[in-house]
Amino acid sequence: MMLDAPTIALVGPGAIGTTVAAALHEVGRTPALFGRTAHAYLDLRFDGGQIRVPGPVRTNPADIEKNVDLVFVAVKTTQVNAASTWLSALCGERTVICVLQNGVEQKDQFASYVSEDRVVPSVVWFPAQREADDSVWLRATPRLTLPDTLAAQGVVTALRDTRCSVDVAADFTSIAWRKLLQNAVAGLMVLSGRRAGMYSRADIEHMSLAYLKECLEVARAEGATLGDEVMREIVDKFRRAPDDLGTSILADRQAGRPLEWDTRNGVIQRCGRARGIATPVSDLIVPLLAAASDGPG
Ligand SMILES: NC(=O)c1ccc[n+]([C@@H]2O[C@H](COP(=O)([O-])OP(=O)(O)OC[C@H]3O[C@@H](n4cnc5c(N)ncnc54)[C@H](OP(=O)(O)O)[C@@H]3O)[C@@H](O)[C@H]2O)c1
Repeated sequence: MMLDAPTIALVGPGAIGTTVAAALHEVGRTPALFGRTAHAYLDLRFDGGQIRVPGPVRTNPADIEKNVDLVFVAVKTTQVNAASTWLSALCGERTVICVLQNGVEQKDQFASYVSEDRVVPSVVWFPAQREADDSVWLRATPRLTLPDTLAAQGVVTALRDTRCSVDVAADFTSIAWRKLLQNAVAGLMVLSGRRAGMYSRADIEHMSLAYLKECLEVARAEGATLGDEVMREIVDKFRRAPDDLGTSILADRQAGRPLEWDTRNGVIQRCGRARGIATPVSDLIVPLLAAASDGPG
């Protein structure tokens, strides 16, 4: 399927992209870097060290002459359309796309570039953030979960023996939806402008559980096998978290950037509607998140 030494590209060298690029570079599999902003190199910092990935980050898709075997995509879900010229130029018949993004719709979103069986969705488990000096601060051990498919094996091979561990899940759908439910509830922080401390309020706890009940019904209709205990587990995790723990959608809101509201929250309303499931909580919060992101006003 994929060669032992595949040619690798990374589109979107931000927090997650820099982490994966650094993990690959450290073992001699340096990816070609493509982004919106030019950089001479990428710096990753973590407890106990740092890695500099040689660039440059190229910014003109017209410069691409050849397809590659493997493309990691780590732009935000709001930036996929703008990144499409990179994908068209990098993808050929053999190319596998590994999507490093939140959400449960990666296969559909990228199937116009390569055949659907060559799109490898992932669940990204590690927090990383971009710093003022353009370096990326990796705040935990990097780990990805992929579905158990032939194309995913190529990604596993590419990341073998790197600091980014990869596990393959037979029931990827359930794992991806569980992570989505967690992200959906985290979106409530945008509406209050507060961090995780807010979940210790009884009214927010109550609302979160009501929202999760709705999300869970949609997740199950979409094929996820998740028990009722998931609702309590997710809320309790937020209640136990440090009061000042944020979420990337809140950071984006506070910085006035577009929000990944559609892939983190809108998706539950859309899937619910398509399956005739009532989504009263989504019907209230999704328009507010959309307006916070996109205006007008
Ligand atoms: N960060 C986390 O801890 C974390 C954890 C789990 C999941 N995720 C998910 O991972 C995904 C990536 O998040 P992130 O935090 O890494 O985002 P990010 O730091 O904002 O990185 C996005 C990167 O894409 C680049 N970009 C934007 N438009 C582009 C275009 N048209 N062509 C090429 N590159 C483009 C950005 O360039 P500029 O430098 O010009 O902005 C930036 O380098 C998101 O779906 C996020 O929800 C993130």
